[in-house]
Amino acid sequence: MGAVVFDSVSKRYKIHHQRVKSFQEAVVNLFYRKNGTTEEFWALKDVDFEVGYGETFGIIGPNGSGKSTALKLITRVLEPTKGRVTTKGRLTAMIELGAGFHPDLTGRENIFLLGSILGYNAREMRQRFDKIVAFAELERFIDTPLKHYSSGMNMRLGFSIIINADPEVLIIDEVLAVGDLAFQEKCLKVLTEFQNAGVSILMVTHDLELASRFCDKAILLQMGQIVAEGHPNDVISAYVSAQPV
Ligand SMILES: Nc1ncnc2c1ncn2[C@@H]1O[C@H](COP(=O)(O)OP(=O)(O)OP(=O)(O)O)[C@@H](O)[C@H]1O
Ligand SMILES: [Mg+2]
Repeated sequence: MGAVVFDSVSKRYKIHHQRVKSFQEAVVNLFYRKNGTTEEFWALKDVDFEVGYGETFGIIGPNGSGKSTALKLITRVLEPTKGRVTTKGRLTAMIELGAGFHPDLTGRENIFLLGSILGYNAREMRQRFDKIVAFAELERFIDTPLKHYSSGMNMRLGFSIIINADPEVLIIDEVLAVGDLAFQEKCLKVLTEFQNAGVSILMVTHDLELASRFCDKAILLQMGQIVAEGHPNDVISAYVSAQPV
């Protein structure tokens, strides 16, 4: 069994439609909750894949193809409608910018908040705190509320927390994209160290060069289904050649 296994996984969402002809009608709908229809939408359909131990695995594909949905199933933010997702090893994940953070709390407070969720005691937290702040290079802003952080600063803090949590399985969703050049390079260096240390990495990215450079294996998702899998360069070619010209 691998670090992450998807066994015939499907995920259905319900999407609501409301046909509104006028502003008055919209206001009336607020009170009566009428007129809506619900449609079922399969964001993932019979998805099977396995991330081997120590492997770096990429998921690529167009917007809305189900990539983040797949990662949310891994972190149990969502439950599969059908099939089974299993993971093995200590999992740390960064799926959305700022997820798990509290905007009114400072950087310092958020580190302690997430640390307690990760199960660290006060002593362990103090030990990690300086490393987290130093890697994120946020010393000056560590007592600023997170709502005043830029996207890149937010990402630095989140990424620094997850890499200092001794992950065995690391899940990242496109979050590196908002980092500046220097910070991206720094993140890639850490990812390489993790690869060498045998950490299993699952990354979603629109950066095909990154996928080619870092992944051992990749899948291409299209409308919730795997349409190509294997060597990253072959999967990237399948993705590129499927684009309308
Ligand atoms: N909670 C939800 N309720 C209804 N539909 C949803 C929900 N979450 C996602 N979807 C839909 O599921 C589909 C897949 O979304 P998902 O976020 O997994 O796409 P993605 O591949 O990560 O796209 P992107 O490249 O834009 O990040 C989309 O059509 C989206 O609208
Ligand atoms: Mg996404």
